[in-house]
Formats: sequence, structure tokens, C-alpha cells
Amino acid sequence: MKCLIIYYSLTNSTALIAENVAEGIRTSGSDAVICNIKDEAPPELDSFDMLGIGTPVYGFNVPINVLECIEGLSNKRNIPSFAFLTYGTYAWNAGELLKKAMITSGFKPNGWFFSHGADYFLGYLKKGCFASPNHPTEEEKEAARRFGHDMVTAGTGWPESIQPPPVIYRIEQIFLGRRPIRLYFQKKFKLNKDKCIRCGICMKGCPSKNISLNPEGFPVWGRNCIMCLSCELHCPKEAIVSPISWPVMNLIMKYNVSHILKDPDIEKLKVTLHNGKIETYK
Ligand SMILES: Cc1cc2nc3c(=O)[nH]c(=O)nc-3n(C[C@H](O)[C@H](O)[C@H](O)COP(=O)(O)O)c2cc1C
Ligand code: SF4
Ligand code: SF4
Repeated sequence: MKCLIIYYSLTNSTALIAENVAEGIRTSGSDAVICNIKDEAPPELDSFDMLGIGTPVYGFNVPINVLECIEGLSNKRNIPSFAFLTYGTYAWNAGELLKKAMITSGFKPNGWFFSHGADYFLGYLKKGCFASPNHPTEEEKEAARRFGHDMVTAGTGWPESIQPPPVIYRIEQIFLGRRPIRLYFQKKFKLNKDKCIRCGICMKGCPSKNISLNPEGFPVWGRNCIMCLSCELHCPKEAIVSPISWPVMNLIMKYNVSHILKDPDIEKLKVTLHNGKIETYK
């Protein structure tokens, strides 16, 4: 059995899970190749007989680049497949959405795995909340290895049904979906030219190569944004304003963070953000 694991990881949590799933597959005597779509295009599926898809949860959804990658795979055919997701706070039914995307593309997934991952979502960091900072843990990595092993030997099955998210999160999920991002939000990035020092950090860190520099050296946003907000987070001069900084978003983030702070099952650290750097409270 030769398994291809295609995943997207920006801040390394999903990458760690992918590596451990692959290790588990190898302990069963099978082969596994892993590919982060942030860095390289996935290889042709022809020479593989199993497919794994790994993704972080973004806005209670599957990130747009992962959906587009699944749709764009060439030589799609009904080989055994599985999925794994990492999330900082609440994944809600993002796993179901991934499963649906895989089935729509002709795959028949027969197992999934979830792990927490360190949550660098700008909306929460701005509110001083760094969720799941020490994840994935050693236990989660070990569980990922077991999952990989089980997927090639037995398969784990999907839960029959996942409860839909509560209404407020459902509304956020719709707002942060593919169409609103592509048709509206991605056009709303604003640059404060008085602050920008034309360092190009935003461009270099963009996982979807959506930022270019104009002849004067200022960043320009394209139409391929996945709303990871990495550009705004890491700008050393805080020169970028995206929709996450709109007053209405401020209220929503405040609501979400108030829930996270009350939830004993979510580990969190108090942080401040300053000039693109996250500082932890002593
Ligand atoms: C833009 C963005 C949106 C996110 N949205 C969610 C979310 O809706 N629910 C959640 O539990 N975690 C969310 N997260 C946290 C990530 O899913 C989590 O940290 C994941 O492990 C990151 O994976 P990576 O390190 O492989 O990039 C979000 C993170 C980012 C950057
Ligand atoms: S990271 Fe900030 S300062 Fe640097 S080019 Fe981008 S917007 Fe300008
Ligand atoms: S939010 Fe910024 S860094 Fe992320 S994909 Fe969009 S343009 Fe690129």
C-alpha cells in the first residue's frame, strides 16, 4: 500500500500531525509520502492507492486552498481515503464539510482524526487570547500514529452525524465561507502607506502567494486570499487593516473569546500583540 498525504499547514500543527500519521502508516509496513500544499503542488495520484487529506479549521470551515486542492486533483478515483483536522478551539462540523468535499470529488473517506493545534488566529490574539498553545501534545501525536496505522489496516469509520454548530457560530461559519471571502472580504484589505516600510514580510509569509509588491515596493493584494490573516498579524509596523479589525468583528471576537475563557477544556495563554510579535504574559 502506498499512501499520499496532502495537507495544508501554516503554523506547523497540521504538519506535525501529518508526519505522525505517516509514521503510523509506515509502522504497518506501508509507504507514505507527505506534501504541504503551502510549499509544493501535490504529485499525481496515479501511483498511490490511498489518499489522506489534512487541514486546519479556518472560520469553522475548511480553508479555501484545501477545497480547491481537492477539486483540482488530477486522476481522481475511488481509492480508500481519510482525513485529519487540527483546530484551536471549536471545529464544529468542519470535519463534515471536509468529508463532503472529498465525496463530491469522488473519494470515499473511511476515517478521520482530530487534534488541537496552537491557535494563531488574529481575531483571538488581538483580544489577548492564545488558545491551545502547547498542541499538538505528545499524546495527540501518538494518537495520530495509531490513526495512521489503523487506516491502512482496518479503517476507523466516520461518526454517524455531527451536531451542527450553535446559531451564532453557524452565522460566523456562513460569513467566513468561501463565497463571502472571495466575493467580498478579500477586497477589503487596507494599507496605511505612512506606516509601511516596504519590507515585504507580508508578501513572503502569504501561504497563497496572494500579495505582490508594486513598483514603489508597497504590497498589493490579489484575488486568491484564504483569509489566514498572517499578513496583518506579522506586519512589523501594523500597517495592514483587514476585515477582522472592523468594529462588528470586534464584537464577535469578544463574544467568542468570552466563551473560550470560560471553557475549562481549552488551554489558553494571555498574550499581547506588538509590531507583529506575540508576547506572552510572565
Ligand atoms: C484564520 C484562522 C482561522 C481559524 N479558525 C478556527 C476555527 O474556526 N476553529 C478552531 O477551532 N480553530 C481555528 N483556527 C485555529 C487553527 O485551526 C489551528 O490553530 C490549527 O491547528 C492551525 O494549523 P496549522 O498550524 O497547521 O496551520 C483558526 C486559525 C486561523 C489562522
Ligand atoms: S509587512 Fe507591513 S511594513 Fe512590511 S511591506 Fe508589508 S505592509 Fe509594509
Ligand atoms: S490573509 Fe494575507 S497572508 Fe493570508 S492569504 Fe490573504 S493575503 Fe495572504
